[in-house]
Amino acid sequence: MRVPGLPALALALLLLSPPCPARRAERYPPTWMSLDARPLPEWFDQAKFGIFIHWGVFSVPSFGSEWFWWYWQKEKRPEYVDFMAKNYPPAFKYEDFGPLFTAKFFDANQWADIFQASGAKYIVLTSKHHEGFTLWGSEYSWNWNAVSEGPKRDVVKELEDAIRSKTDLRFGLYYSLFEWFHPLFLEDQSSSFQKQQFSMSKTLPELYELVNKYRPEVLWADGDGDAPDSYWNSTGFLAWLYNDSPVRDTVVTNDRWGLGSICKHGGYYTCSDRYNPGHLLPHKWENCMTIDKFSWGYRRDARIGDYLTIEELVKQLVETVSCGGNLLMNIGPTLDGTISPIFEERLRQMGTWLKVNGEAIYDTQTWKAQNDTVIPYVWYTSKPKENRVYAIFLKWPTSGKLILGEPKANLMATEVKLLGHGRPLHWVSWASSGIIVELPKLTFDQLPCSWGWTLALTNVT
Ligand SMILES: *[C@@H]1O[C@H](CO)[C@@H](O)[C@H](O)[C@H]1NC(C)=O
Ligand SMILES: *[C@@H]1O[C@H](CO)[C@@H](O)[C@H](O)[C@H]1NC(C)=O
Repeated sequence: MRVPGLPALALALLLLSPPCPARRAERYPPTWMSLDARPLPEWFDQAKFGIFIHWGVFSVPSFGSEWFWWYWQKEKRPEYVDFMAKNYPPAFKYEDFGPLFTAKFFDANQWADIFQASGAKYIVLTSKHHEGFTLWGSEYSWNWNAVSEGPKRDVVKELEDAIRSKTDLRFGLYYSLFEWFHPLFLEDQSSSFQKQQFSMSKTLPELYELVNKYRPEVLWADGDGDAPDSYWNSTGFLAWLYNDSPVRDTVVTNDRWGLGSICKHGGYYTCSDRYNPGHLLPHKWENCMTIDKFSWGYRRDARIGDYLTIEELVKQLVETVSCGGNLLMNIGPTLDGTISPIFEERLRQMGTWLKVNGEAIYDTQTWKAQNDTVIPYVWYTSKPKENRVYAIFLKWPTSGKLILGEPKANLMATEVKLLGHGRPLHWVSWASSGIIVELPKLTFDQLPCSWGWTLALTNVT
């Protein structure tokens, strides 16, 4: 670079001054006080919608739940015991499902296409669930991983490559800290977690390996096994993740890092499965839920009524985003590595809905009201910089007029449009604050979408 006419002294000073200041002066010490204060990378709040994928050896029996092993062997629930007695030889062990997990039709590019079409902005794959089977060739999971058994492929790598090369989605991984039946975990447990054999020789090495090899931008911890975060060395690990890991600038984590840390420590809050509080929280949160109401893993015994309808899913998304959350919507692929048509349809339906209404979802902020006082099925989001408020209504009023109690209109400036329709709509003020919008008279074919609609309100307060 040459700066014409710059006096020589100034130039010399410029050259002498140190290069850019250190990328980030601040380092996070391994305490919750410091780690909890780390600002959440912005992409996460903008993304709003992700896909959760529960896949593992539990996808082989694909009966009941991904908690199959626990319910069968630990709780001995009759339906699981009967299922095994009826369908497998008496000496059959859970481990024998491993080689049957073939993933024969697994095509990561096809998954990536479906996820892209869903409108999601990130995915979170179960790299290891409580059964302990790792979907990558973990050096610490001898003979119980997808490279040496079952698929004989590095599933995590294949999906990472497809997501990163074919889509604009972020790649994230779920990881279960504990394992139901790992002998070292059980030994540590019986020492009331005074011993740390399992966390030190299995969990932490695997976490470092996973992050270094696959650079997940969401690290979704789960399964603390009722052990405190000190047992898992969670603060030490997170300090490394935020200070020194290859994803330190963009990674987000959740809040499941040890007994009592949920809804309290870590990155964003998940609080409980299917968490959807219906009101604002002072902290970024995520509603993780499943399309199959009863299971996260694939179930061959599911009935059509067990799956949430697209109307119910859109409602989840809208309520969640209006209250400041992200939606993490789960599917369970089959043991063959296919995404069943019912899941694929729901994903693609979300995508068609978001094509029209995405403007009211992505990159939005919450508004002064989350849902309307007159009609509670109207939910609000906003884009303050554009002076815009979005009112998403989940039922089309039979009168053709939508009464909104919250937005205060300005006679000269307010403009109302239906997303996907585009022309300004007639409106009148209602009561002291409020507005009545005359919806366009559209035939069924002319409706921009069918499971919820959005009014974009410009210049309302
Ligand atoms: C545990 O955390 C400490 C910091 O608190 C760190 O120095 C150490 O490397 C961590 N150990 C592992 C195995 O992560
Ligand atoms: C929506 O708004 C109404 C009225 O303000 C309120 O009572 C209700 O709890 C809100 N939430 C839901 C989920 O409807």
